[in-house]
Amino acid sequence: MSLTSFSFPTPTLFGPGALRELPARMAKLGIRRPLIVTDGGFAKTDAFAALTSVLGTEGRGSSWFAYVGVHPNPVEDDVREPAALFIQHGCDGIIAIGGGSPLDAGKAARLLVKRPGFNLSRFYDESDWSGLAPFIAIPTTAGTGSEVGRSSVITLDGTRKKAVLFHPELLAKLVILDPELTVGLPAKLTAATGADALTHCIESFTCPQFHPLCDGIALEGVRLIVDALPKAVQDGRNLEARGHMLVAAAMGAIAFQKDLGVVHSLAHPLSSICGMHHGLANALCLVAGMKFCAARKPGLYRRVGQACGLETLGLSDADSDTQAIHFVTTFLKGIGLEGRLRDHGVTTDHLDSLVAQAMDDPCHKTNAVPVTAEDFRALYQAVL
Ligand SMILES: NC(=O)c1ccc[n+]([C@@H]2O[C@H](COP(=O)([O-])OP(=O)(O)OC[C@H]3O[C@@H](n4cnc5c(N)ncnc54)[C@H](O)[C@@H]3O)[C@@H](O)[C@H]2O)c1
Ligand SMILES: [Fe+2]
Repeated sequence: MSLTSFSFPTPTLFGPGALRELPARMAKLGIRRPLIVTDGGFAKTDAFAALTSVLGTEGRGSSWFAYVGVHPNPVEDDVREPAALFIQHGCDGIIAIGGGSPLDAGKAARLLVKRPGFNLSRFYDESDWSGLAPFIAIPTTAGTGSEVGRSSVITLDGTRKKAVLFHPELLAKLVILDPELTVGLPAKLTAATGADALTHCIESFTCPQFHPLCDGIALEGVRLIVDALPKAVQDGRNLEARGHMLVAAAMGAIAFQKDLGVVHSLAHPLSSICGMHHGLANALCLVAGMKFCAARKPGLYRRVGQACGLETLGLSDADSDTQAIHFVTTFLKGIGLEGRLRDHGVTTDHLDSLVAQAMDDPCHKTNAVPVTAEDFRALYQAVL
């Protein structure tokens, strides 16, 4: 057995109203002039107003600053611009609030604060990323789990591909999971981001790497999501369901330290080439990906089915997979996630570039079974 290291290090504050702890926690971390990083849509929400009020509305532009320009599926400018603002205003910490997009952009902006003008496509040529500005992550979608992750997913200028910038120094010093901040998330986005979290849990559990700690977290994540996501979609004000989804999303990302699989490799090019929301892309590809893996590794989803509440003990491997896949199909449909890629602007003309980018994507390298370019083409065609 080879040497392995297990790590679950992010301090996390959870509960309704947790945001109100922010000033005290900032002080503990030595943050006095934070830069807030978010997107324009979130900046108009009540949740952003709650943050403004906790920081002191009158201090905006003098004791705290805000960058509100992050795009969905962030690009390099979304990292460069907040870094420049940070330096211009002499900030001393970054607080990213919003979905995975602002969290990833804010997390990575610290790289360009440390090395202004650095070319992010050369990220892995540089190994010393120590001493980054302290980072607090406040997710307001329950999906990506970026808040507990060591990576930032940025579409690079040169390649137009999503690159995963991974470094332990990128970790947040503090995560605040406050379900009150997610009550305004529309039902469609609640469903799509929740499907991302579900895909993280399923793909990380079935990824073959030895990591029983992550496996346990992934299965409990599935159990929480299956229970809480329909409730959160149905009634956005259900704080218990919102809270369980926030925790489950963080669990999904903790679990995918193990790595992910074919579904994420299908999803990433759908965002970078066709602009599709990451969670929706996963949702539309998840069942096809599960069928593909189950056909080559029967029994793969037996315990996923159990985590969904199914009784799969006496069943054959093939039947336990069929039941789990049927459950996931019905579950996604029940929260409004059905349809085909073509309903979202994807056409056969996109196929060649989708397949090429999916092959280049690292996630499928850790899939439960190997995936070829022909497999990717067939999988895209199955959901087109
Ligand atoms: N770093 C990682 O480990 C990781 C993992 C998975 C995905 N990602 C990345 O995360 C990004 C997707 O993040 P996402 O799915 O959270 O979407 P997002 O951040 O793009 O947000 C989607 C929309 O939701 C809105 N929104 C967010 N919170 C809201 C709230 N409380 N009320 C109302 N509206 C709200 C935003 O304004 C935005 O319009 C992708 O770029 C993906 O690649 C990163
Ligand atoms: Fe994801």
